[in-house]
Amino acid sequence: MHIPVMLNECLEALITDPKGIYVDGTLGNGGHSAEMLKQLDDGGMLIGFDRDIDAIERVQEKLKSGEGRRVELVHDNYANMAEQLDRLGIQKVNGLLLDLGVSSFQLDIAERGFSFMKDAPIDMRMDQQAGQTAGELVNTASEQELADIIYRYGEDRASRRIARAIVEARSKVEIATTLQLAGIVERAKGGRKGKKTHPATQTFQALRMAVNDELAGIEQVLETMMDRMVEGGRMAVLTFHSLEDRLVKQFFARHVPREESLQEGGVKRIFEEPPAKWIWKKPLIATDEEQAVNPRSRSAKLRAVEVGG
Ligand SMILES: C[S@@+](CC[C@H](N)C(=O)[O-])C[C@H]1O[C@@H](n2cnc3c(N)ncnc32)[C@H](O)[C@@H]1O
Repeated sequence: MHIPVMLNECLEALITDPKGIYVDGTLGNGGHSAEMLKQLDDGGMLIGFDRDIDAIERVQEKLKSGEGRRVELVHDNYANMAEQLDRLGIQKVNGLLLDLGVSSFQLDIAERGFSFMKDAPIDMRMDQQAGQTAGELVNTASEQELADIIYRYGEDRASRRIARAIVEARSKVEIATTLQLAGIVERAKGGRKGKKTHPATQTFQALRMAVNDELAGIEQVLETMMDRMVEGGRMAVLTFHSLEDRLVKQFFARHVPREESLQEGGVKRIFEEPPAKWIWKKPLIATDEEQAVNPRSRSAKLRAVEVGG
């Protein structure tokens, strides 16, 4: 079961006009989308993206056009959102939601290779039909490249040690499965040391972010969609770790005007076009009740802006 994170908060941030056009960039199991659709009236439209064809197929039944509301599902990277909107003949939208990261479905299906809890080939591609797998990366990248990836995307200070252990292990035998890789990382880090999180957590996150080029995709969708929002349109992003959150926060902050005093008197508003304002000054986190029932919500932060002004 994939329980949508901070569902009410997302809807509250996003839906300002029930006849508007709303985009869910990360359909997953369609949890947020289904509720967004319910809030739309005659003439409203929902466009859902996922680069995972399984997600598109899974939600097709759940999210259908009807009762005056239109639904379009798009199998593509959200980085290509602007081109896809052009194809659909849509210039501007009222709201955009991004719920970043992997879905519980992707984690639960062993063959997708995202999880170090289940033994399977190391795949980790969100789009199973394109690109290099994490297994190919682990077995071919240089020691330096691996160390950089694990340091940059996993923020693991043992990155060099882990990269060396990977290269040493693969010189004897190909690193074929998730558990094999998790074991190599665990040993390189000197075991569990009583910690709750598995020592391979950050390495797995780093490899996933690298093969899916995640940060570049987020930057690109935010950049292009800023210019595709109606005046007063809303963008809401759920992030799950500090790298994502930092990127989103800094991106939005560049659009929120700051006032600088001028020598000759008066003030100047400094911002990147188009201007935006925070819907909440601080990111929202899930309530204690939600965190108790949905562990995935524990690391979530919701940031949202209104575009225009
Ligand atoms: C956390 S899940 C979304 C869950 C959804 N909000 C729900 O309530 O069911 C994230 C989804 O986004 C998809 N995704 C991640 N990065 C993507 C990208 N760059 N383009 C399109 N879809 C992406 C993943 O394949 C996954 O299905």
